[in-house]
Amino acid sequence: MKPTVSLIFITLHTFLTGTTSSVDDRRLVVASVDLVELEYQDHCENRAYATWKELIGDPRGLSAKLEKDKAFGILSRQQKKDVKMALGGYTMEPSDEVLRRKVQLLLQPGDTLLDTKQWIRLVTFADTALHKIRYANDYDCGTGTNCTLRELHSSIARQQDEATLLRMKLSWERNLPSLNEYLEEILPLLRNASKENNYNGVESYWDSLVEYEGAILKARELWDNVKPLYQKLHKYIALRLKGTEAVGNTLPVHLLRSLNGDDWSNIIESLLPKHPAIYQKIHANIQLKDLGGAKAFREAVKLVDGLGFGELDTDIWTNSIFNGTCPTTIVDWCKPNKMLVVTCKDVSIGNYIDAHEAAMRIKYREIAALHSNNTYILREAPRYSAIYEAIPGFVSLLSLNPHALDRSGLFPLHVFNYNPNHHRLVLQLIMALRDLPKLNYYLAADEWRLKVLMGTIPVSKAVSSWSEFRKNFSLLETSDVDLLGDSHILFNRPYIGKFMGLILKYQIYQSFAEELSSDESDLLQHVNESSNRLSDVMMQGYTNDWTEMVSEVLAKRENGLEYTGLTDYYQLLDEYLDKQLDPSDKEEDDYNEIVKETTENNAIPPPPSTIKPTIHELDVIEPPDESENIVDVEDSHSKYSAETSTVGVLEIKKQPPVDDTKNTQEASYNTYWWIGIVVAIIIIVILIAIIARKRHNHRKQLEKQRRENTRA
Ligand SMILES: *[C@@H]1O[C@H](CO)[C@@H](O)[C@H](O)[C@H]1NC(C)=O
Ligand SMILES: *[C@@H]1O[C@H](CO)[C@@H](O)[C@H](O)[C@H]1NC(C)=O
Ligand SMILES: *[C@@H]1O[C@H](CO)[C@@H](O)[C@H](O)[C@H]1NC(C)=O
Ligand SMILES: *[C@@H]1O[C@H](CO)[C@@H](O)[C@H](O)[C@H]1NC(C)=O
Repeated sequence: MKPTVSLIFITLHTFLTGTTSSVDDRRLVVASVDLVELEYQDHCENRAYATWKELIGDPRGLSAKLEKDKAFGILSRQQKKDVKMALGGYTMEPSDEVLRRKVQLLLQPGDTLLDTKQWIRLVTFADTALHKIRYANDYDCGTGTNCTLRELHSSIARQQDEATLLRMKLSWERNLPSLNEYLEEILPLLRNASKENNYNGVESYWDSLVEYEGAILKARELWDNVKPLYQKLHKYIALRLKGTEAVGNTLPVHLLRSLNGDDWSNIIESLLPKHPAIYQKIHANIQLKDLGGAKAFREAVKLVDGLGFGELDTDIWTNSIFNGTCPTTIVDWCKPNKMLVVTCKDVSIGNYIDAHEAAMRIKYREIAALHSNNTYILREAPRYSAIYEAIPGFVSLLSLNPHALDRSGLFPLHVFNYNPNHHRLVLQLIMALRDLPKLNYYLAADEWRLKVLMGTIPVSKAVSSWSEFRKNFSLLETSDVDLLGDSHILFNRPYIGKFMGLILKYQIYQSFAEELSSDESDLLQHVNESSNRLSDVMMQGYTNDWTEMVSEVLAKRENGLEYTGLTDYYQLLDEYLDKQLDPSDKEEDDYNEIVKETTENNAIPPPPSTIKPTIHELDVIEPPDESENIVDVEDSHSKYSAETSTVGVLEIKKQPPVDDTKNTQEASYNTYWWIGIVVAIIIIVILIAIIARKRHNHRKQLEKQRRENTRA
């Protein structure tokens, strides 16, 4: 039914001019929307094939992907016209919510509305750049031979030598696209895209895509409250890597073993407190069990299932690529049962956590698809929902929950319980090194782009302004071009939804943790028992603005974004950092000792412990005789004592069968296409009926006129 849709509209409109009743008008709008969605769905499938081809390194992959991506913009403009035409002068009832929502989403699809030439320029720039980054094999891995991106990622994680790290980073930057082209030809497209979507300015356009009024302002406000923790972590890193004089100064990102500074996980081993048994054990076990690639995904799916969301129903296991490149990419054919991933096989705690996020994201899409009654736009809406980011993010937080670690055999619960707050501190450090730099990077990327677009940064200075901006805003020394390795930047997508998602995921965590009857309880079990509030929201897809669903996700505890979920989560880490950074707060000697050691050796010494000397000799791996050595860790005075994680009796319950959703899934997949066909037939019947009725009315009118004429 490809090019026929607009033809049908045109034909219909010649029939239905003027005199339609509002019932008929509504039917026409509904029928047109259904047809437009089927068009989109068809296209999504073709586009997914092309995307997949490119991802698996098919020689014609890039050209196939470019062709489909270009066509997507043309399709989107056409479909907007069709919907507008079908809508005519019809005004939808306020109560007709789902239809209103669909029409709104179809009329304001975002950047795809760009003038065709400009759209083609955007996707060509981005697709080509990402392809080059993915497939270049002249990266410098420090070994004297050229290497691939995957190898670059894994070597940078291990490299110690500063000069080599810098060389590696430069070899990556050489494969990035031109900054001048980006600044002159690509970024300004955002102004045109906002005009095409009827917005006056990029900031309000982005607000609309995130569906949050004043999103950037809100993000700034949230950031102001998270910033102290970010700064402390930053100072602590400076202290540990470079000594006291470096505290408060900017840090070069290659020293953080990062390409653009958005993740500092690779330096964790230089930052661990004394007795980092939990880190060492998890690290060793993940290696030992080879929990990378497909195995990490299987572990993640087990956790997702354990939370009550069910197994994954896609053919992900048979056809996905688990030995490709990270970060994980998900390709969705817009058909239930057909989603695939490309990820890497490298084993690391970071990739393990990421696998959890990706698995939950796939589950999210499955649940949305299953319940959106096969309506394309309500699950693929071009919107940036913080909930869509936060729920998978929440599951990634749970991957390091003590009960989850115990179940996956990474760290036994009874050992955890022996010294819980100390272990929690280490786990918090692992998470903080991932999330805090991201939060900062997301906001920096959006703020900087808006500043350039609004002329706050003059064009003449724009070329060197990113690194300048990062210096002030992030306390990092980056290059001017490193943001061009990022698909969100290359495609002109706002980061603000992801920023808010990161904030919200900690609120979700807190909302569940606060409900635990005691610190001893199993948080995973509890989420399983009340996972409905997440499923209910996932089922709605994009039927509502995400902001309207926040309260539901948080069990009505809060109805907006609050930074406190995050700051409360990191309370132990915050206190630990305070102690490390403030010599007056602890034994003077202790502090001087670290400082001396740090400045003397380039090798990073273990930091002093915040825990009492009595446990220094304690073998944290095997709890000693219970009667002695009850570890005395400072009470965190936590307002939410359960918030950081849960400690308690190990209780692996057999999962209750998942809700009836699951059982009906199989059936609905089979009937899926039949429903599509039936819908199409119904639409055609309705159209014929409308036409027939129009003709009938028309005939009657003509007759009436004739009668009147003859009477006259
Ligand atoms: C690595 O790639 C660069 C650029 O393509 C090339 O000039 C160089 O000779 C290569 N080096 C090795 C060791 O293959
Ligand atoms: C934006 O649109 C205007 C008018 O159509 C055009 O002249 C301009 O080149 C466009 N901007 C970019 C960056 O292409
Ligand atoms: C990935 O694994 C597949 C088989 O599982 C193999 O054919 C392919 O060569 C591997 N690719 C890489 C890059 O290792
Ligand atoms: C799907 O259909 C069911 C039953 O007809 C309805 O209750 C539900 O609201 C619909 N969902 C959406 C997203 O339209």
